[in-house]
This record gives sequence, C-alpha cells and structure tokens, in this order.
Amino acid sequence: MTSSALMDNYGPRSLSIAKGEGVWVWDDQGTRYLDALAGIAVCGLGHCHPAVSAAIQAQSQNLVHCSNLYNIAAQEQLAEKLRDISGMSNMFFGNSGAEANEAAIKLARLHGHSRGIDIPTVIVMENAFHGRTLATLTATGNRKVQAGFEPLVRGFVRAPFNDVSALEAIAKNNAAVAAVMVEPIQGEGGINIPDDNYLKNLRALCDANDWLLIFDEIQTGNGRTGSFFYYQQLGIEPDVVTLAKGLGNGMPIGACLARGKASALMKPGSHGSTFGGNPVACAAALATVNTIIEDKLCRRAADLGERLLQQFSEALADCDHVIDIRGRGLMIGIELAHPCAALVGQAAAAGLLINVTAEKVIRLLPPLVMTDEQTEQLVQTLVPLIKASTATD
Ligand SMILES: Cc1ncc(COP(=O)(O)O)c(C=O)c1O
Repeated sequence: MTSSALMDNYGPRSLSIAKGEGVWVWDDQGTRYLDALAGIAVCGLGHCHPAVSAAIQAQSQNLVHCSNLYNIAAQEQLAEKLRDISGMSNMFFGNSGAEANEAAIKLARLHGHSRGIDIPTVIVMENAFHGRTLATLTATGNRKVQAGFEPLVRGFVRAPFNDVSALEAIAKNNAAVAAVMVEPIQGEGGINIPDDNYLKNLRALCDANDWLLIFDEIQTGNGRTGSFFYYQQLGIEPDVVTLAKGLGNGMPIGACLARGKASALMKPGSHGSTFGGNPVACAAALATVNTIIEDKLCRRAADLGERLLQQFSEALADCDHVIDIRGRGLMIGIELAHPCAALVGQAAAAGLLINVTAEKVIRLLPPLVMTDEQTEQLVQTLVPLIKASTATD
C-alpha cells in the first residue's frame, strides 16, 4: 500500500522494493525480480555495486557536505574525468536531470543575450522529455506533462523530431533562436532513433546560424547506448551536453557539460546549487564512471544490445502485433500495435521489471553488467508475455 502521507503524483504503487544486488531486486515479501529497467536507466552497474558502495561509505565517513563555497576534491576529480571522456571543457553539477537541463537552458539564454537577442528562444522537439521543472516541462513535448502547470515558460518553439527541414524553416523565420535542445534518441517518447544524418545536419545548421546545439544525454549517456555519450558514435560534438540518471548509479547527480563558446558563459554568481556536486554524490559518480571505463561496459552494452535485438527479432518474427523492435546498446524499445501498459504487471508477476512508455512501447533499460544467462532469462520471460498480449488486457 502506498502511504497517504505522500502526495498522489505517482499514483498508487503495488511493489515495495526492499533490497537490490546486481541485476536483482527483492520486494518486501522476499520475491526476487530481474530488473530490466535499472531504476529507469540509473543503476547501470547494477544495484549496490561494491565500488560505488565503498566510495559512498568512505566519503560519508570523511565529509558529507560543505557547500560550493569551498573546493570539493571529489567534484573536481569527477569534472576532470568527464572532461577527458567527453571532449567538453567545463561543467556544472546539479542533483537531477531536470537541473542539468535547467543549466543548459540558462546557457542558451546567456548565449542569446550575448548575441543581442531580447527573448532568446530554444527549439525543442515533439515527443521530447526533458524533466518536470517549469522550464524543462515546457521543453518537454508532451501535453500530459504540462497540463495544469500553465503558464508555461516563454522562449521555446517546437519542431517535429527527425525533420531538419522544419528547423531550416524556423531558421528563416525566427531570428530569436539561440539553441536547439534535443535527445539524440528519445527515451520517454518511445525509444525514437532519428535517421543517421539528422543529428549531423543539426550540427551544421547550428553552426550556420550561431545556435548552441544541446544534447540531452540523460538517458542515452553513461555508456548505455554503446559509447559513453551517444554523440561519440556520430562523429559530432554538441556545444552542451547534459547527464544524470546513470552518472551516480543511484546517487542523485546531474551534470551540464559545455565547450567552445558555451564554456565561458557562466560567470561568478550566474548559477548555483546548495547540494549540487556534493562530496558523496561526486565520489559515487567518480566510482561509477571509472568502473564503466575500466570494465569496458560501453562495449558490453553494445554487444548485449545487439544480441537482445537479434533474439527478440527472431522470437517475435511471427507476432503480428509487434510493429518494431529497435534500440542502441541497452536502450531498447519493442513497439506493439496496441496499448500495453498491462504488460508491466504481468512481467512483474513473472519476476521481471520492465516499463511501457508512449503507451505502446515496451522499454528495456537493463544494467550494463547483465550476464549472458540473465540476458537469456530476460528474453525467455518476456517473449511469451508479448505474444499473449492483446488490446483488451
Ligand atoms: C532524456 C531525459 N531528460 C531529462 C530527464 C529528467 O531527469 P530527472 O527525472 O532526473 O529530473 C529524464 C528523465 O526521465 C530524461 O529521460
């Protein structure tokens, strides 16, 4: 039972998770589940990874908090590590994805004002998801997320995803544009992967118009799609990229990374956070990032993802209500012809945690450390449920 002491924003929840280890979680009744969602793309190293737990423990016994009035060694080490991996030059740490995106939107506005634009505008996409703060829910392309929270924030225009010509038309007609903000693969929107050249063309369009290109890699980042950042597979670099979710393997942390003209926009006093970049979150993130790199988990995610796509494609080839099976690395969507939210409960009853997004898309975001055997178990459990799924469930 969900306590009435909580606000109802999440609705009632039927499972109470009491313990986690690796790809497994246990509910408060002791039932074990294979977690193919990893806390919504958060626990990439699996639950309670020893290196992360050790880093949290050591840091928490030394210093939990001191504020950003002082240098924080773990924060600086994490920033330098991410700088080396990303090709970006500097970054700001917050506590969540939405906060990372807020920082990115503020960079877009600073950039616009530096160009003499009074109301700098950010182009955002249909079906995007960028968070639940007022600016990020405005950037989100889903009316359900926005409804009831009007007035929305000024300074955003919406374009269809995966359509460069729509942005070219905006470029001709709107001189106030300062940036484009886009998830390189849409997560909540249904694991929507754009055409190969779309993001490259966006890069060129941003260069031609002096717009910042902002990639929201909050879901795609941290190794999940087969490289630490998805853009590294495309041979382009954004001006700004945001991370969160898997960065701390469960400790709340978000990051907004910038390079080039975007890297010098923040000045002392421009932005801040009491908790952002706190020692424990940064120590956890540093251990997470080091483990992703040292254990070659980006490669593992790529390999496992290819295997999962192949196995699902073979096993569901004769299933007429499967419309599409798609993904990059361990960010996988299986789209059905009918709404399939009921599959979440059916899978849990079979000992598997999954998610359904955009009503009809089964979303799999398993830990990057999943073994071959666990991968097999995921397919074996899910395939019969998908085959049996009907529009009337
Ligand atoms: C692409 C993307 N951006 C931003 C967010 C918001 O992150 P948070 O919930 O940590 O604020 C999410 C969360 O699902 C996301 O998937």
